[in-house]
Amino acid sequence: MRVGVLTGGGDCPGLNAVIRGIVRKGVQEYGYDFTGFKDGWRGPLEGATVRLDIPAVRGILPRGGTILGSSRTNPLKAENGIRRVKENLAKQEVDALIVIGGEDTLGVAARLNDEYGVPCVGVPKTIDNDLSGTDYTFGFDTAVGIATEAIDRLHTTAESHMRVLVVEVMGRHAGWIALHSGLAGGANVILIPEQPFDLEQVCSWVTSRFKASYAPIVVVAEGALPKDGDAVLKDGTLDSFGHVRLSGVGEWLAKEIEKRTGKEARTTVLGHVQRGGTPSAFDRWLATRFGLHAIDAVRDGDFGKMVALRGTDIVRVPIAEATARLKTVDPALYSEVSVFFG
Ligand code: F6P
Repeated sequence: MRVGVLTGGGDCPGLNAVIRGIVRKGVQEYGYDFTGFKDGWRGPLEGATVRLDIPAVRGILPRGGTILGSSRTNPLKAENGIRRVKENLAKQEVDALIVIGGEDTLGVAARLNDEYGVPCVGVPKTIDNDLSGTDYTFGFDTAVGIATEAIDRLHTTAESHMRVLVVEVMGRHAGWIALHSGLAGGANVILIPEQPFDLEQVCSWVTSRFKASYAPIVVVAEGALPKDGDAVLKDGTLDSFGHVRLSGVGEWLAKEIEKRTGKEARTTVLGHVQRGGTPSAFDRWLATRFGLHAIDAVRDGDFGKMVALRGTDIVRVPIAEATARLKTVDPALYSEVSVFFG
């Protein structure tokens, strides 16, 4: 049995831990051979491979990024994409593919498996934690840890100057990172894509925080939008995924807060720092377990399935089901956290 492995979409701390789990168990327990495909779906599309064996995965557990490389290439959008993928898999004598990715990458795996007979097993990956079917994705805990540390640090500089500090975190469609890091870091306002925000309300929370002699920290997810549609139409742009974004929402918000409250405001955009570097212990644990269970799914011939965390168990769910809709923040959970606003 030869198993192909690829990592697609935005990189994420823990990818190497999954790869190591797959290869270690696959070689040691089942005697499988592996082919690493380079840069996500570009690998099978163009026949770009990397060696993947025990020496190749030695020492990679704590390393961020992915030894296989990643991209957002979509073979379903490429000319003769399906035929080329199938031909290259056959050329490499690959019997099954383990696809490690988020909604887009796994969406391709679901279609290749269900409609075109390419045997795929999925592993959920995203710092955004917005994949359905799993309680958590690896990478999320690391990203939340990095954002929380940044918020902790920003509190002291905000207090020293009695300024508003706006912290923009990742999350185009879901506010999980904003919600978790905002709560953990004691933010005074948390704004998420799921709940369009009222600028006047934000300013009144900011003002009340100053009245209590504290400097407010506002955490905003990059995909959060104000209720005021005019502002979105004026400043909104389409991002590389074709979604409306108020580009630079953090900067925009700080300017508006300054204008409306008369208080000095600054913005920190955390960006890709949230995705880089070594994974947390939890993410190494989760990613490794996902890898071990993914190779078991291959051994069982249980294709079209994604490994997922339910409580403390790793289960298998249809990839198509997990990628059918995003897992967003429930309004009840947001309102639970809003007791700390202002
Ligand atoms: O999906 C992961 C993610 O990091 C999002 O949080 C972010 O919006 C996006 O990827 C950024 O993509 P890129 O690295 O291609 O700019």
